[in-house]
Amino acid sequence: MGKLTAPVIASRKVRDGGVPLVMVTAYDAPSARISATAGADILLVGDSLAMVVLGYEDTLQVTVADMCHHTAAVTRAKPGCHIAADMPWMSYHVSPEETVRNAARLIRAGAHSIKLEGGRKRLPMVDRILAAEIPVMGHIGLTPQSFHAIGGFKVQATESEHARKLVQAAKALAHAGCYALVVEGVPDRVAEMVTEAVDIPTIGIGAGPYCDGQVLVYHDLLGIEDRIVPKFVRRYADLKTVSVAAVAAFAADVRSGAFPSEAESYHLR
Ligand code: KIV
Repeated sequence: MGKLTAPVIASRKVRDGGVPLVMVTAYDAPSARISATAGADILLVGDSLAMVVLGYEDTLQVTVADMCHHTAAVTRAKPGCHIAADMPWMSYHVSPEETVRNAARLIRAGAHSIKLEGGRKRLPMVDRILAAEIPVMGHIGLTPQSFHAIGGFKVQATESEHARKLVQAAKALAHAGCYALVVEGVPDRVAEMVTEAVDIPTIGIGAGPYCDGQVLVYHDLLGIEDRIVPKFVRRYADLKTVSVAAVAAFAADVRSGAFPSEAESYHLR
């Protein structure tokens, strides 16, 4: 795993001179190898797996078995990054016993830590997971697993009372022992308040620049996923266009007889 353990990450605050953390989602061995070679600090086996890889409409469809399957694939690539795995919906909502067992399954699949969504109401489960010696990354703000409850994928904490509650939730999760916090879909100044309020790093997505790190979904940053492009996504490549052109060129060559060539064929001696 190299040196980026949960305790090392926990001390990476920009205000203390730390370099911002780079987190990228990964769901399989090739994406893990590419992001590791590019120098990512943390690979997140996110439950966004549901939409970007498995073709579901939302993250509520993935199971612990799905997450373990993909965490194991990322791990087998031996990326040398910290690997965090998302606990999927309903894997930490029923009982502390089930929660700890589900977290342990992700660790046995190869994750170095787990991430779960939600504020103060998650504290009992966070305590139990930490008591099993499993590092926990929190996730507050826009929490996609709650999209039915919050009425859609909307920017959160836009009013001062909600912003105050978010800061309280961040402090409570940090106090409980989370080693980092994803802050998603909140105004930049609210993310700044959260970042100032806690001694652990905040990792933003759609939360502006005042965080201790940033995360993007692999398929978004590479332009593989182009159906919805949220405002906060910056595309660093257009792999969908390149890929469609490559497969179309292959199809044209097959249909015209240009592929395979003599050089691409085996011959009798
Ligand atoms: O599942 C995911 O990709 C995530 C990131 C957006 C933080 O949780």
